[in-house]
Amino acid sequence: MSIVKIGVLLSGSGSNFQQIINQVEAGTINGEIVVAISNKKEAYGLERASQKNIPCLFIDATKYSDDEYHECLLAELESKGVELVVLAGYIKILNKKFIDKYRHKIINIHPSLIPSFCGKKYYGIKVHQAAIAYGVKVSGATVHFVDEEADHGPIILQKVVEVIDQDTPESLAKRILSVEHEILPEAVRLYCEGRLVIEGRKVMIR
Ligand code: GRF
Repeated sequence: MSIVKIGVLLSGSGSNFQQIINQVEAGTINGEIVVAISNKKEAYGLERASQKNIPCLFIDATKYSDDEYHECLLAELESKGVELVVLAGYIKILNKKFIDKYRHKIINIHPSLIPSFCGKKYYGIKVHQAAIAYGVKVSGATVHFVDEEADHGPIILQKVVEVIDQDTPESLAKRILSVEHEILPEAVRLYCEGRLVIEGRKVMIR
């Protein structure tokens, strides 16, 4: 199988991105990260890319209309021949044109068990605040393909994390993040081996 060209979009620390870098380097993922793009100038994920000589750039969404911003993103990804887009802590919503262009080729990680505590209102620490306030006994992480609705597309992998009485949103976020670090690279690995088959909302692992 040919090596899959991966483009990463991120907005923050990029610890999930780092796990993908590590597994590409280790040869576990049959892919090459050809570009990392951030919509936040200060995102540490850009530094992680530079350290590994991965082409990276900041695109300032505030300087463009939403359509222009997405044109710009698409142009960058297409110029690098990106075949798989990984959202590794990317906080902007992708527009329809972008999703159509990369349908079933965009993977996102969300720090809850979708369909709980997900969608536009739920990002960052808010996800874990909501889970604790609701009193759930388990939460977790979900990797899914991206469609037009936030945190909604076909689910690839999920992993459960127990919520304990003493949990704060921060302590829960920390335990869930370490699970994210397992399942995001695992989903990317499966994708790059051509092992994910989508049938409606279901993703079969072959
Ligand atoms: C993760 O919890 C991810 O699920 C969420 O944002 C966080 C990003 O962490 N979307 P990092 O930038 O990968 O460290």
